[in-house]
Amino acid sequence: MKVETYERFQGNLDATDHPYMSGPFTPVHEELTAFYENGDAEVQGTIPADLDGVYLRNTQNPLFKPLGTYHVFDGAGMVHALRFNRGRAEYRNRFLRTTAFEMELAAGQSVFGGLIDPPSVSRFAGWGARGGLRDAASTDVVVHAGSALATFYQCGVPYRFDAFTLEPAGHETFGGRLPVTDGAGRFDHGMSAHCKVDEHNGELLFFNYSKRAPYMHYGVVDANNVLVHYTPIPLPGPRLPHDMSFTENYAILDDFPLYWDPQALREGKHAVRFFREQASRMAVIPRRGSADDIIWFEASPTYVLHWINAWEEETPEGLEIVRHGYFQATPLPSNKDRGEGFDNKGRKLGAARYGPHIHEWRLNLRTGKVRERALDDTVCEFGMINGRHAGRPYRYSYNPLPVDDAFLFGGLMKFDHVTGDKQWLTLGERRYASESPMAPRLNARDEDDGYVVSFITDEKAQCSEVVVIDAKRLADGPVCTIRLPHKISSGTHSCWAAGSDVRPFGQG
Ligand SMILES: [Fe+2]
Repeated sequence: MKVETYERFQGNLDATDHPYMSGPFTPVHEELTAFYENGDAEVQGTIPADLDGVYLRNTQNPLFKPLGTYHVFDGAGMVHALRFNRGRAEYRNRFLRTTAFEMELAAGQSVFGGLIDPPSVSRFAGWGARGGLRDAASTDVVVHAGSALATFYQCGVPYRFDAFTLEPAGHETFGGRLPVTDGAGRFDHGMSAHCKVDEHNGELLFFNYSKRAPYMHYGVVDANNVLVHYTPIPLPGPRLPHDMSFTENYAILDDFPLYWDPQALREGKHAVRFFREQASRMAVIPRRGSADDIIWFEASPTYVLHWINAWEEETPEGLEIVRHGYFQATPLPSNKDRGEGFDNKGRKLGAARYGPHIHEWRLNLRTGKVRERALDDTVCEFGMINGRHAGRPYRYSYNPLPVDDAFLFGGLMKFDHVTGDKQWLTLGERRYASESPMAPRLNARDEDDGYVVSFITDEKAQCSEVVVIDAKRLADGPVCTIRLPHKISSGTHSCWAAGSDVRPFGQG
């Protein structure tokens, strides 16, 4: 391994035992580049020669002491990249150079509040659907039109960067066509996390949401990075959608009965409530359609944080949109439900609290009816699939298994959506996986012909690794483990992009 230091940042974060600034969430403040080849002491097994592309993951790394209460999603966004090519690997990590990051760096302290704080804590107008937040771009990352795009789940300005070198390219507003201010310097619209890339035609589908009517917009950016469609999606009021899904011809957007209490909101308070008597509403819209084209469906009350996939299927009853995602048994767990306190500092956050399991919704475009069923009862979330099957029929998902009471994953479950068969991977004591994409091998023959890749944060050995696992034989464990030059913080979303889908900056 050859390591180069790119930059070190000096913050003012006190040594802390805060649950989301310590242990597996200890922030990283140095930016490194490391080069690996087979035979290096840090490489166990063999870097597969038929793995060509880049694994990107977004994490949160607070640099400055928070103004108010720190939440696990408040830290500055940092992307970690592992590029694989011809049996070699390169690791890089870089902070996302967002406007807020630069402002706080210049100030030498935090100037924006966090998700738990009232928006008034921020010293500047800030960003986000709720207002007042830093534009951390720290939630999600995708590769579209040859380079990477980082996004924030409360809506923010998307950030472009080179998917291999992580060299920043600044705000992405698609030539100014994506509204990111309201003209008075305040943030508006922007883009939510979980924009979707259709690998079949290179389109990027996205949505945003806000507290102002029409409360949601939907857009499409083509493979040449031109915003070709942007349309309002009127909702009954402010909502908190997190994800969307798509098929070959449709996008599907959501209005779940989990949102800010309207009465409290009128008093300036952001109190999330689950309206358990209200249906989950799903909007099916042609990919270039407008509000008039939407067909609304009603399903049982829940909240879906993440969708796994969707596709179109002809049935004897007519054309159906089939959606797979995680149905939450308890979308808003209360202190009473757990019989213990939730300290609102994130100590008890974690996917397991919501009881998510894999579920199927079938939206019939002829009858307007929804049929739904649980596909499995394993508590899991943050699943990924072979991206070539996104929006099309598929068979396998790779699902991280949440650790109780923590925003951490202790293993993986491969689920066969046709037979219901499961394969398990356990990681060992105090070893935590990241969201784990499936990377098809070069010239892959079928859907699971490739590798599952994951960053591991190992609290026992105090190190981080990348593991490369044969997707057909998850339970066999890694075929290759690469030790990183530093321990990285656990974070949120990730993606895999084939080398052929990346156009490095400076190479046309
Ligand atoms: Fe998410």
